[in-house]
Amino acid sequence: MRERVGGVELHYEDTGEGEPVVFLHGYPLSGRLWDGTVAEVGAGFRCIVPDLRGHGESEASDRADMARYADDVVELLDTLGEARPVVLVGLSMGGYVAFELIRRHGDRVRALVLVDTRAGPDTAAAAEARRETAGRVLREGSGAVADEMAERLFAAGAPRELRSRWREIMAATPPAGVAAALRAMADRPDSLPTLEALRIPVLVVVGEEDAITPPEEAERMANAAAGAELEVVRGAGHMTPVERPAEFGAILRRFLARM
Ligand code: MLT
Repeated sequence: MRERVGGVELHYEDTGEGEPVVFLHGYPLSGRLWDGTVAEVGAGFRCIVPDLRGHGESEASDRADMARYADDVVELLDTLGEARPVVLVGLSMGGYVAFELIRRHGDRVRALVLVDTRAGPDTAAAAEARRETAGRVLREGSGAVADEMAERLFAAGAPRELRSRWREIMAATPPAGVAAALRAMADRPDSLPTLEALRIPVLVVVGEEDAITPPEEAERMANAAAGAELEVVRGAGHMTPVERPAEFGAILRRFLARM
């Protein structure tokens, strides 16, 4: 399905009935990341899965920042007539967007699930490297980033087909979308204070072998958020919902059932 939101055509999936759950994917990925999760969580929830602008089947814009991604999600909810506070589930960059969405539209969120992500900002060196990569992607295309990310996304023992499927999805992400996301991530603020101030249920999930946002980051987030739960998933890398769909789905279902 598609809706015009914030000046671009946004692609999304909207399935099931019940309490709304919104799933935000990472960089430079797409909403397909949540297919297994939506299948596991089942029809008892309204699962809304956007492709963030410039990713998947959504249109790109030359510039984006975390505020723009977050506002896109809220405008999509408005367009869909979904005014109830949602459970927000964000993986990696989807987590960065979730933090911004909470800062800007906190009354729209009733619980937060942080998956393979971190709360801290980039170091100055990491931000500079992202800006350089953004320039390279605009000159040379998304292929180089796709190659590099395909190596780092999954646990060592992940099936080869997973790597090649996701390499293709990343390589198909338009350079404008990849570059905009890199710059948005480089500019993002520290979200630890946001987590510390939260008074909603928080679940933190991480793959034991996540090489991009390792378990220490998840522990830091779980310690910062009052009453947060932490789940470490064995044998998963940075793509826990894709690598361990049944296990991740069960963790999420238990969290949703307790709410
Ligand atoms: C992601 O998976 O969204 C990114 O790798 C996150 C990051 O690079 O910080």
